[in-house]
Amino acid sequence: MKNEKIQAPKGVREYLPPESRGFEWVRNQLIAPAKLAGSQLMELPVFEDTSLFNRGVGESTDVVSKEMYTFEDRGGRSITLRPEGTAGVMRAVIESNLDRGQLPVKVWYSGQFFRAERPQAGRYRQFYQVGIEAIGVDDPALDAEVIAIADRGFKNLGLKNYRLEITSLGDNESRAAHRVDLLNYIKSLSLDEATTARAALNPLRLFDDKRAEVVEVMSKAPLLLDYLSDYSRNHFAKVQEYLNALGVAFVINPRMVRGLDYYTGTTFEFIHDGLGAQSGIGGGGRYDGLMETLGGQPLSGIGFGLGVDRALLAAIAEASLPEQSFNADLFLIALDESAKISVLKLAADLRIEGVTVEVSFGDKSLKGAVKGADKSGAQYLVVIGSAELESGLVTLKRMNDGTSISVKMSELKGALA
Ligand code: HAM
Repeated sequence: MKNEKIQAPKGVREYLPPESRGFEWVRNQLIAPAKLAGSQLMELPVFEDTSLFNRGVGESTDVVSKEMYTFEDRGGRSITLRPEGTAGVMRAVIESNLDRGQLPVKVWYSGQFFRAERPQAGRYRQFYQVGIEAIGVDDPALDAEVIAIADRGFKNLGLKNYRLEITSLGDNESRAAHRVDLLNYIKSLSLDEATTARAALNPLRLFDDKRAEVVEVMSKAPLLLDYLSDYSRNHFAKVQEYLNALGVAFVINPRMVRGLDYYTGTTFEFIHDGLGAQSGIGGGGRYDGLMETLGGQPLSGIGFGLGVDRALLAAIAEASLPEQSFNADLFLIALDESAKISVLKLAADLRIEGVTVEVSFGDKSLKGAVKGADKSGAQYLVVIGSAELESGLVTLKRMNDGTSISVKMSELKGALA
């Protein structure tokens, strides 16, 4: 028993080299458009007071009722590992009065989230999201911009085989009108007790039920889109008009059900075709009542969360990862002890110029060092010994075909470019 190897907990996703290079690239590409649009970083705790999620995300959701990692801390407080990011952002915005300044508050975040789901390909208990939230302005142009930013992120990855689905959950008036008819419709069906109880909490959840008999009866259920108030209908029409103008392709899915209860108005999901069951690579929407629910002002909000793990799987499925660019530009080998200082200095100088340089370490034979260079995937190789130091000339060897040219050490940067 002693000294037995310890394994990572079941279902957590971790990224180690070389796979982590693709992960890092995907994460950066996904969030880059948000930064270009003026979102600022928010670093938040990965655990919060449990009541934040009970109230913010909603008791009718699987996320809250079945999937939270909740525990008592040493002071007897109920703590939950964050299952999503929006509630925490809202908590922090209210707590720090960010909503008393310039609106919309525009933030982005990136990190681990935790849901005790049954692990499978693309579904993990610890997973990664990047996300943005834009709080305090109710303008359909903002909805379109938020959606377009997410879409740009996926395009940055070179993805093509995905679609954007949008719908509107309307305002309170729209939902109230629809709820009456939907509950009446559901009452007319003979559903089991658990399903009826779920419908009482949030009847929209039944649109998400995967059982064939429920799908069948729900295909005839009244749709919320047909109950939109004038305000909500115009708002949604504007969002579509802006998306069209931005060239962001979308389809309307009136049966979309998001897994979190705070959504109102515009909601959306990005679905990838190459991922099997876990095809949702990102989603988001408006949550106009959330701030008030959490004790703040009655301000609106909209945002998204993109699944970095699934986006990486999608990029792998579409072979769009720029594998080559993950490798070093140059690998330097010091032929003997006397060349080591020069090699270290040259590497440091080239890195200042933005060249990625790896250096061979340890007392390897030249053959061993070259093998290391080969394995590293570096594009070019330079070996430096006393002859090179004396002449100031080095041989720059291209690793993929072995061709080489002679260059001045001082001109390596230009030669690499
Ligand atoms: P969500 O749809 O629950 O939304 O999650 C966003 C994305 O996170 C999903 O589309 C999926 O790619 C990824 N994801 C979710 N659960 C898992 C899992 N168990 N394993 C791997 N990936 C997963 C939210 O979380 C909202 N906070 C998004 C938002 C921000 N809405 C408004 N603002």
